[in-house]
Amino acid sequence: MAQNRLDKVLSDLGVASRKELKEIIRSGRVTVDGQVEKRPERRLDPEQNRICLDGKALEYRRYRYFMMDKPLGVVTATEDAGQKTVIDLLPEDLKGLGLFPVGRLDKDTSGLLLLTNDGDFAHRVISPKSCVEKRYYARVEGKPDGSDVLAFRAGLTLGDGTVCQPAALEILGESECLVTVTEGKYHQVRRMLASRGKPVRELRRLSEGGLSLDENLGPGGIRELDDGDLCRVLGKDHLEK
Ligand code: URA
Repeated sequence: MAQNRLDKVLSDLGVASRKELKEIIRSGRVTVDGQVEKRPERRLDPEQNRICLDGKALEYRRYRYFMMDKPLGVVTATEDAGQKTVIDLLPEDLKGLGLFPVGRLDKDTSGLLLLTNDGDFAHRVISPKSCVEKRYYARVEGKPDGSDVLAFRAGLTLGDGTVCQPAALEILGESECLVTVTEGKYHQVRRMLASRGKPVRELRRLSEGGLSLDENLGPGGIRELDDGDLCRVLGKDHLEK
């Protein structure tokens, strides 16, 4: 891995802010390969050099994985000329990690969004071959009924000829339903429901694979995922990586 400044490496590990780290390093609390290192600008490779803080070794993780409760009104992109992105919402200490969204949610869709700096993981979650189920809560106009359930199950063909894989529609109430799909075509859930005369008024992603949105996060809230969470998303595929 490329060499980086000691204060940046420690900040990427979430130890403290870059400003606080300068103080921590200058006070002699950090060692690199057993030697006290007081220069925040010291360049090193965290995969090769052993870094300790107050005598405790820091575990370097090259790839990081997070879930966000994406709020309404922000775009799923790493940058945008005029609009706020999900990356703008990250806490300062996570902004240098090179995170990007796994797949996308529309600006007016909320809920579970995975973020990572691991391109291979992202690819496998998005790929239709992986068959990762994405589950959405939808509030619609009109009343979904049994004929809609059957049409979803059979696989819908949209107005423009797009063929959708079989999907599950569960009716929750008068105008509320759950939709489970294994693909991520453009505006897919909105277009599927609209094709049945049930335009979407509210859409929220609740889960990907077996990983559910942590409803305690609140809009824009984020938490890091552990190995168990990753296995919930990709099943045993994650372990085989
Ligand atoms: N389907 C949609 O229509 N929109 C989303 O944001 C996600 C799935």
